[in-house]
Amino acid sequence: MTAKRKAERKEGRNMPPAKDSLYSRLGGYDAIAAVVDDLLVRLRDDPKLRRFWTSPRSTDSNNRERQLAVDFIAAAAGGPTFYLGRDMKTSHKGMGIDREDYAAFTRHLGATLAKFNVAERERGDVMVFIASLEKDIVEK
Ligand code: HEM
Repeated sequence: MTAKRKAERKEGRNMPPAKDSLYSRLGGYDAIAAVVDDLLVRLRDDPKLRRFWTSPRSTDSNNRERQLAVDFIAAAAGGPTFYLGRDMKTSHKGMGIDREDYAAFTRHLGATLAKFNVAERERGDVMVFIASLEKDIVEK
């Protein structure tokens, strides 16, 4: 997102997503939602990662988490969604996510992006963004 756009967002002047934004290049909202849905199934099925979702959770809590993930990624990619969730540090603190967990997350994301035939440039942009969040999410 450009500095001008960021400033517009801050002032509440939400402009439609730029054609060259990562959001548009990924295919917009539906494409991002499909990626998140595919990824969440992989994460919850992974023997190493499923411990993070084992305690009984309501369908509504799962739906809420899914929607927040879609909004967060779409907004970060320059899309028109507005993220209402907590920041990455606050929402993951106390789970004890380690570097290996994060590497597993990244591998699953790579598999999802490959499944949806996301082009190399966009795949790279998404991976750079996810790597930038690691310091806030990994605790040990
Ligand atoms: C190994 C890595 C990760 C694990 C195990 C993990 C696990 C979780 C879990 C269990 C929750 C639900 C927390 C709750 O119900 O209170 C959550 C929330 C969330 N996660 Fe992650 N997560 C990981 C990485 C990421 C990454 C890389 C992103 C960003 C793309 C992300 C975005 C979110 C969002 C937006 C929420 C909702 C925040 C809120 O409730 O306000 N997570 N995560």
